[in-house]
Amino acid sequence: MVTGIWNALEVELRPLTPGGGAARGGDRESAGLASGCHTGTMTASFTRMDESTHEQWMVIGQETSANQSRVAERILAMLASLGEISDGFVTDQLTHCLQTATRAERDGAEPEVVFASLCHDIGKAVSVPNHPAIAAEIIRPYVSDDVYQMVRTHQDFQGKHYYAHFGGDPDARDKYEGESFFELTARFADDWDQVAFDPGYDTLPLEHFEPLVREMTAKARLF
Ligand SMILES: [Fe+2]
Repeated sequence: MVTGIWNALEVELRPLTPGGGAARGGDRESAGLASGCHTGTMTASFTRMDESTHEQWMVIGQETSANQSRVAERILAMLASLGEISDGFVTDQLTHCLQTATRAERDGAEPEVVFASLCHDIGKAVSVPNHPAIAAEIIRPYVSDDVYQMVRTHQDFQGKHYYAHFGGDPDARDKYEGESFFELTARFADDWDQVAFDPGYDTLPLEHFEPLVREMTAKARLF
């Protein structure tokens, strides 16, 4: 996994502080940072970006990096909220996501694929019609491009089973033939996603996947 800009900023911040340590709290004045202390965290002091300084952005980078674990908490909370959504399916959407990830894991899928399988319908917590794009963008900084594309396009692969009922093209997946993510997405859709509506299946709980979610989201790739 490529480290993100915030990790680079954290490294860059260290020379600005006494002893080379990361600037926090009371260190800020001696470090020469134009920042303020707020409930144990540093805050940059500018009120408009065109007046911001390098040092202030180092503060923001440091604080953002220090709070990266918030991503896992938000993803886990969004997944839990899917337990409230059934929309006519036999299983709720949390159970469906857990079962998709369970099937992927038991088939020996890579960790990032299991993570993506868990999150593939997380967009339904906000909006069902465009849920693949929402889910794909949420996990994008934490997975490879093929896995991002797997989630982004998965509905067109699933459409084989239902697009025709709504006037759509059941062969919508064909437009992705030749793409590097085609085989992976076909396996995801055919072997794990479309069969994951079975209330009698031995589905692993959300707690089982929590360490994976925290590990996968520990570092972001932004650029
Ligand atoms: Fe699904």
